[in-house]
Amino acid sequence: MPHAPTIVTAAGGPTLSRIVAGAWRMDAWQFSVDERVRWIEGCLDLGITTFDHADIYGGYGVEALFGEALAAAPRLRERLQIVTKCGIRMVSPARPEHRLGHYDTSAAHVQRSVDNSLAALRTDAIDVLLIHRPDALLDADALAECFTRLRAAGKVRHFGVSNFTPSQFALLDDRIKLVTNQVEVSPLHIAPFHDGTLDQAQHLRVAPMVWSGLAGGRLFTGQDDAARRVRAVLERLAGERGISVTTLVYAWLLRHPARLIPLTGSRRLEAMREAVAALDVQIDAQAWYEIWVAGNGAPCP
Ligand SMILES: NC(=O)c1ccc[n+]([C@@H]2O[C@H](COP(=O)([O-])OP(=O)(O)OC[C@H]3O[C@@H](n4cnc5c(N)ncnc54)[C@H](OP(=O)(O)O)[C@@H]3O)[C@@H](O)[C@H]2O)c1
Repeated sequence: MPHAPTIVTAAGGPTLSRIVAGAWRMDAWQFSVDERVRWIEGCLDLGITTFDHADIYGGYGVEALFGEALAAAPRLRERLQIVTKCGIRMVSPARPEHRLGHYDTSAAHVQRSVDNSLAALRTDAIDVLLIHRPDALLDADALAECFTRLRAAGKVRHFGVSNFTPSQFALLDDRIKLVTNQVEVSPLHIAPFHDGTLDQAQHLRVAPMVWSGLAGGRLFTGQDDAARRVRAVLERLAGERGISVTTLVYAWLLRHPARLIPLTGSRRLEAMREAVAALDVQIDAQAWYEIWVAGNGAPCP
C-alpha cells in the first residue's frame, strides 16, 4: 500500500502529511459514526494524517461529524492533525443571526469561531487555523494580536490563510508568520502558476495547500470544452504510463517546486490511495506542459 510522507510547511511551521484529506463534502457521504472512524483509520493507513475542515462545511455541521468520530475513538486525535478555517459568515439555519453572507476577520468573530470549532471537533487545540477568504475589512494588526492570544491560550498552534492574493498574504505575514496559503489549483485552474501566488510560496518557502485538484470532479464528468480537452490529454498520458487519471493529476501538482500539498475531496479510500500513489510517479516537463497547455486552451506563447 502506498504511504504518504510528511512535510514541514514553513520554517517553524507544522508537520503535515504530503497529501491531506478534505472533509468539505463529508455531510453528503451520510456515513455512520463507525464509518467515519473507519474512513479516518483508512486515511491514516495511507499516511494521510492531516484533515482539512472549515467551520462552515456542511452548513456548520461537518466539524461536529468529525468530532463525533474522534469521541468514539479518542486515540485517533494524537495520530492526526486538524486544519480548520473561519472568517466567513454564511447564511444558515445554524446561524440565524447572519442576515447576509459576508467575511468577518474581527478578533471577536475569530475567537468565537475557534471556540465553536474546538467544541464541535471535541479537541483542545487546532493544529492550523486558516482565514478562509480575504476580507476587505481585514485589520492586520488586530488579527495578528488575536492570533497571538489564541496561540498563548493553547487553542491554535499555527496560522495561515486561504484564497489570498500575494499582496494580501504579504500584509498579514508581515505581522505574524503564516504557514500556508490554501488555494485552488488544477488542470482546469492554472492561474496560480502565473499570478504570483506560487511564486510567492516558493520565494517565502511556505508550502501552499491545494484545493479541488480534480476540479471538484469536473475533470471526469464536465461536458464543457475545457473539461473535454483536458480529460482527453489526461487519459492519453495516464494510459501511456499505466496509471489512473487521478494519480497523474496529483503527480502533476506534486511536480511543482513550490511544494504543493494537495487535498483530496473523495469519500472513497481507493481514490485517496490513487492520490498517494502519485508520490512515486515522476513526470517530465514535457508531459507537465502538455497538461498545462490543455488547461490553457492554447500553446505556450
Ligand atoms: N479553501 C477553500 O476555499 C476550499 C474550497 C473548496 C474545497 N476546499 C478543500 O479542498 C478539499 C478538496 O476539494 P474538492 O472536494 O473539490 O476536491 P476534488 O478532489 O477536486 O473533488 C472531489 C470530488 O470529485 C469527485 N471525484 C473524484 N474522483 C472522481 C472520479 N474518478 N470520477 C468522478 N468523480 C470523481 C469526488 O467524488 P467521490 O467522493 O465519489 O470520489 C468528489 O465529489 C475539500 O474537501 C476542502 O477540504 C477548500
